[in-house]
Amino acid sequence: MTTLDDLPIRDDLRGRTPYGAPQLDVAVRLNTNENSYPVPEVVVEAIGKAVQAELRDLNRYPDRDAVALRTDLAGYLGHGLRMPNVWAANGSNEVQQQLLQAFAGPGRTALGFGPSYSMHPLLAAGTGTRWIGALRDPDFGLSPESAVAQIAQHAPDLVFLCSPNNPTGTALDPSVVAAVLAAAPGMVVVDEAYAEFARPGTPSALASLPQHPRLVVTRTMSKAFGFAGGRLGYLAADPAVVDAVQLVRLPYHLSALTQAAARAALAHRAALLVTVDAIKEQRDRIVGTLRARGVRVADSDANFVLFEVGGDQHAAWQRLLDRGVLVRDVGLAGWLRVTAGTESETDAFLGALS
Ligand SMILES: Cc1ncc(COP(=O)(O)O)c(C=O)c1O
Repeated sequence: MTTLDDLPIRDDLRGRTPYGAPQLDVAVRLNTNENSYPVPEVVVEAIGKAVQAELRDLNRYPDRDAVALRTDLAGYLGHGLRMPNVWAANGSNEVQQQLLQAFAGPGRTALGFGPSYSMHPLLAAGTGTRWIGALRDPDFGLSPESAVAQIAQHAPDLVFLCSPNNPTGTALDPSVVAAVLAAAPGMVVVDEAYAEFARPGTPSALASLPQHPRLVVTRTMSKAFGFAGGRLGYLAADPAVVDAVQLVRLPYHLSALTQAAARAALAHRAALLVTVDAIKEQRDRIVGTLRARGVRVADSDANFVLFEVGGDQHAAWQRLLDRGVLVRDVGLAGWLRVTAGTESETDAFLGALS
């Protein structure tokens, strides 16, 4: 049987493992930070109609520039953003890959502050970008001084910030983003996949866009919108950044069906985003209950909670799985991450953990 090692694969990809949270058939799946609520019937119908309306024209390529969808996304974001400020692709992962292709790549570097989203280094590897694993503080925070010192040491071409940060959950103070923007010689990408779940008073980096042409904010419909299966991520930035990304995007990368479905979902955002408050309630319940039990928990502005199990986190992960609850072992010694979902999922998780 031929194995990967028998093929003339790039040397820098040899021995690597693909991204892969286990997709196990378990009753309570709280491991990939999806939105646990199914798409409401009214939105199912609207998406169905929108997709149906595209079918006869599937002999034609879709709008390569996704102008209508980008206009809708800009309207959703506000902050004075308009269509030329926004770019969309199949998930924010693809948007970030395009950013690396345009601004990093062979001979260049990207830096991120771990523990953070595991796809950032993988996307760097795939685009031939050298990854620099900088560090958050031991309490998972990131001070402006530490961020600036690590950037000064490496002068990376692209910096990833993640706010709220996955897997730790906490949003960055705006002073950190400001300090990084001042110190970084290249692009600064703030991954705000979980922005809609932030606690009140948590500002978005979107507010800093007008002063900073090297700043990019990435967002997704996979989490708050409950549209993970639809695959729609986007960025907001100076229009020149969108021009740069268009140099590397595949032609017609976003199918007519995806564009139509995403527009229908956006038009019904009120019906979709009602779940955000319910999820935040479960998140705060998980944080409060675990702290009351004496468990260490990171503050969370996201739809998940990082909690300390003490000792072997993989054994704890397995014991929870044995009780029918799938959480995430992100490889952080002594800690596990649980997605906040429905009330009954929280009941099951808290019951299994006790
Ligand atoms: C921080 C962060 N960014 C991006 C993504 C990927 O989102 P998308 O589904 O838009 O590719 C995730 C998904 O878990 C994430 O945690």
